[in-house]
Amino acid sequence: MKKIAVLPGDGIGPEIVAATRTVLELKRLTADGLRLEIAEAPVGGAGYAAAGDPLPPATLELARGADAILFGAVGGPKYDALPRPKRPEQALLRLRKELGLFANLRPATLYPELAAASTLKPEVVSGMDILIVRELTGDIYFGQPRGIRTTEAGEREGFDTMRYTEGEIRRIAHTAFGAARRRAKRLCSVDKANVLETSQLWREVVTAVGREYPDVELTHMYVDNAAMQLLRAPKQFDVIVTGNMFGDILSDEASMLTGSIGMLPSASLDSRGKGLYEPIHGSAPDIAGKGVANPLATILSAAMLLRYSLGEAAAADRVERAVRKVLAQGLRTADIAAPGEAKVATSVMGAAVVAALG
Ligand code: IPM
Ligand code: MG
Repeated sequence: MKKIAVLPGDGIGPEIVAATRTVLELKRLTADGLRLEIAEAPVGGAGYAAAGDPLPPATLELARGADAILFGAVGGPKYDALPRPKRPEQALLRLRKELGLFANLRPATLYPELAAASTLKPEVVSGMDILIVRELTGDIYFGQPRGIRTTEAGEREGFDTMRYTEGEIRRIAHTAFGAARRRAKRLCSVDKANVLETSQLWREVVTAVGREYPDVELTHMYVDNAAMQLLRAPKQFDVIVTGNMFGDILSDEASMLTGSIGMLPSASLDSRGKGLYEPIHGSAPDIAGKGVANPLATILSAAMLLRYSLGEAAAADRVERAVRKVLAQGLRTADIAAPGEAKVATSVMGAAVVAALG
């Protein structure tokens, strides 16, 4: 019996997670009858409201003890004025760090049915299938020292530290080469080695790791050029590996190329396959509680959970096929509906995926 910690969070989080649970709770997902022990706990603004902490100790313990974590979304205007340690995003940053979830996999796949939703021309994006592998527990996000100090001249100065050890670079490089090997065998490492020492080391270490993967074609690209190439010719990319900060930015850019941020899942993995799975979109406070949010990114995150943490690749394939089927059937939530197209509710979309699973 595998344990799943479910952390719905804020905004549309509870709705999309509820729809996803109806999929994960299907025994018939696997041939031998999938049975999961599922427990929920508050996180983000909901954690703060319940226990004065965006990551209450009981929530962290539940997450620690689980084989995998399904995460909704956190944040909302109510919490914007809180001091930084109490803000909802801290829950995510602390979970990543405490659980050692260093490898963030963010696929940016274009669904043919939704090609018109992209702001780029269909011929530029059709067939696009990129996997961004973002390092998630290092870099300027966590580097010390950091702070706001007063200089000798009496002026305030903010500072953060970008840093990566060889070991951190090596392990994410292995993740990325491994992923590329299972795909089109092309890996592009993104850095800013023309300016930053951190990036110079990054490039050296990634190149060295690459010698162990002669079947994977490795290229390097500066991050500014990568941002441009993603818009110019996104299909040139198969797998992209990059650090925490650049990955944060490029993964948002890549997701927008698909035109349907409501469709994209993500996985954040430790070295043993335990992972946190979440849609890449946020908590969308403007539509929270209305039952109109798109649950597909969370359902596809559950598919990644089945694949990476539970070793149930066949079940993961079935869920992904079911999602394609409901799209082909023409079901659309508001975010992916073309003008004039009928829109379905969150729960209807969830039920349609369950039905499509057969
Ligand atoms: C993401 C988000 C987070 C990040 C925020 C919410 C801390 O933007 O997962 O990309 O910057 O990593
Ligand atoms: Mg981000």
